[in-house]
Amino acid sequence: MAVLGVLGGSGLYDIDGLEDRRAVAVESPWGEVSDEIVTGRLGGLDVAFLPRHGRGHRLAPGGIDYRANIDALKRLGVTDILSLSACGSFREELAPGTFVLVDQFIDRTFAREKSFFGNGLVAHVSMAEPVCGRLGDLVVQAAGALGLALHRGGTYLAMEGPQFSSRAESELYRSWGCDVIGMTNMPEAKLAREAEICYATVAMVTDYDCWHDDHGAVEVATIVEVLNRNADAGRALVKAVAPLLAAERPAACHKGCDHALDHALITAPA
Ligand code: ADE
Repeated sequence: MAVLGVLGGSGLYDIDGLEDRRAVAVESPWGEVSDEIVTGRLGGLDVAFLPRHGRGHRLAPGGIDYRANIDALKRLGVTDILSLSACGSFREELAPGTFVLVDQFIDRTFAREKSFFGNGLVAHVSMAEPVCGRLGDLVVQAAGALGLALHRGGTYLAMEGPQFSSRAESELYRSWGCDVIGMTNMPEAKLAREAEICYATVAMVTDYDCWHDDHGAVEVATIVEVLNRNADAGRALVKAVAPLLAAERPAACHKGCDHALDHALITAPA
């Protein structure tokens, strides 16, 4: 049976409409989970919600223990993660307010723990297709049913932060063909893959970063204002995805996310 994990980003610190709502403090040997995880049932599906910055937005992107968060969701039986986050846009047509279902990443983060593996137990999972297309199909279907404009596909530049990009960096990432930029989807997507959890991510555009001549440099106040407008749509999307996943989830993900480790371990058995 599927369990949907929801990772809420800036502006999305809670979820409503859950039956049997409980807040659970999950311990992880990997470190501090961002906050208590709210569990319950939504549309006939078990759901676990975790705000990645913690309630009150206490954790900076580089201060989040992504391993602890993914491990905690795994311990709760999560099979599918829907990640929601704010992002900047590198494309005119991806205006603030647009939701982008990201399908590729360029990871420029450099000060974070990115793997559950390492010396002693070495593994190399494939990140060629870094998100689950099956879960993505459901997100597209749910957005369609809600009449929500969702742009399918896009390359997300994951930056370390916490400062925003310089104009030269912003222009560079545009020249690389990136579509959006954010600070949190990596290493989340990599760790979900290692944990054999299906992962889909909706990046909610809040600004044009700093490349656009008609828009000033990005500021937190702008991001918060757009996010507050978008948070309800984000929550509605989660509510619409839950029953679809409850009805659809096959025993095994045909994209292979749930057996990503089958051929990934390279260390010889002791
Ligand atoms: N999150 C929202 N807008 C952003 C931007 N322009 N750069 C990085 N992260 C962001």
